[in-house]
Amino acid sequence: MRRGGQRSRPHARCDEPLKSRDRPPPRDAVLLPLVDETDAPDPTLRADALLHVGQLAAGVAHELRNPLAVIETSVFLLQEQVGEDPRAARQLRRITEQLRIAGAIVNDLLDTVRGRNAPPSPTATFDLARVVREAVAWVPRPPRLAIALRLPEDPVVIPGDARRIRQVVVNLVANAVQSLDGHDDSPGIAVTLDSDERAAHVSVRDHGPGIADTLLPRLFEPFVTTRAEGTGLGLALSRQIARDHHGDLRAESVSPAEGGGARFTLTLPRHAVEGP
Ligand SMILES: Nc1ncnc2c1ncn2[C@@H]1O[C@H](COP(=O)(O)OP(=O)(O)OP(=O)(O)O)[C@@H](O)[C@H]1O
Ligand SMILES: [Mg+2]
Repeated sequence: MRRGGQRSRPHARCDEPLKSRDRPPPRDAVLLPLVDETDAPDPTLRADALLHVGQLAAGVAHELRNPLAVIETSVFLLQEQVGEDPRAARQLRRITEQLRIAGAIVNDLLDTVRGRNAPPSPTATFDLARVVREAVAWVPRPPRLAIALRLPEDPVVIPGDARRIRQVVVNLVANAVQSLDGHDDSPGIAVTLDSDERAAHVSVRDHGPGIADTLLPRLFEPFVTTRAEGTGLGLALSRQIARDHHGDLRAESVSPAEGGGARFTLTLPRHAVEGP
């Protein structure tokens, strides 16, 4: 791959958004629920089941990284060999795209498991306004889709891990963009950052279909998705990251009287919190 005369090596990262190009239409049903509520009414059993599946998935994810890296290198070398052949180049781009999706799934799984054991450094701080601005810029979207960014003029310095919080905002904005697939006349998306002495709040509001009442209670569970190419990990991982930072992530459907759609609010404390 050449950009401005420079050769850039393809690299799969969990904090890179997925492209929405070539997506089949979304499925109606909620997919891949890990545990059926009726099968495991006891919350302890449910937590155990999630832990085992999480450990298994992390093991598989870890082992998959080596073959994925080999394929990625081979594709990179092939790209140089096929040169200007447009059909071969297109197929290689598809392979690269799918590799990136696979890499993102693998990294998400590993991050989810690592996240439990790796709280953010208590001394690290960052400007949340800058991180929100970067996250919004990273999410690919149709050119006509407007994102209104409302940020304070001054930096909003908070304790925590900028990379992981950026990943949360990327996930929320990517979801909002995906919710507007086929809603070409939508007023778009609003991303807002407010803060006071105690907490900062990032709100991502879209004017898509909103969230079905049946889905809302399970929205943050791993592997719950209605999207054909979704992993259902974005929100589970994002809430875990928010809670690792002693904050939270909440979802609501906005009433039709208020314009409809969904609103996700990430809340983070302004000052370091003692303890786990
Ligand atoms: N802004 C939104 N509007 C409507 N539904 C949403 C929105 N955000 C998330 N959802 C619903 O929540 C589900 C889970 O979202 P989540 O981000 O966890 O996974 P995903 O987007 O399906 O896949 P991925 O792991 O690739 O992010 C989505 O499949 C979708 O049904
Ligand atoms: Mg998502």
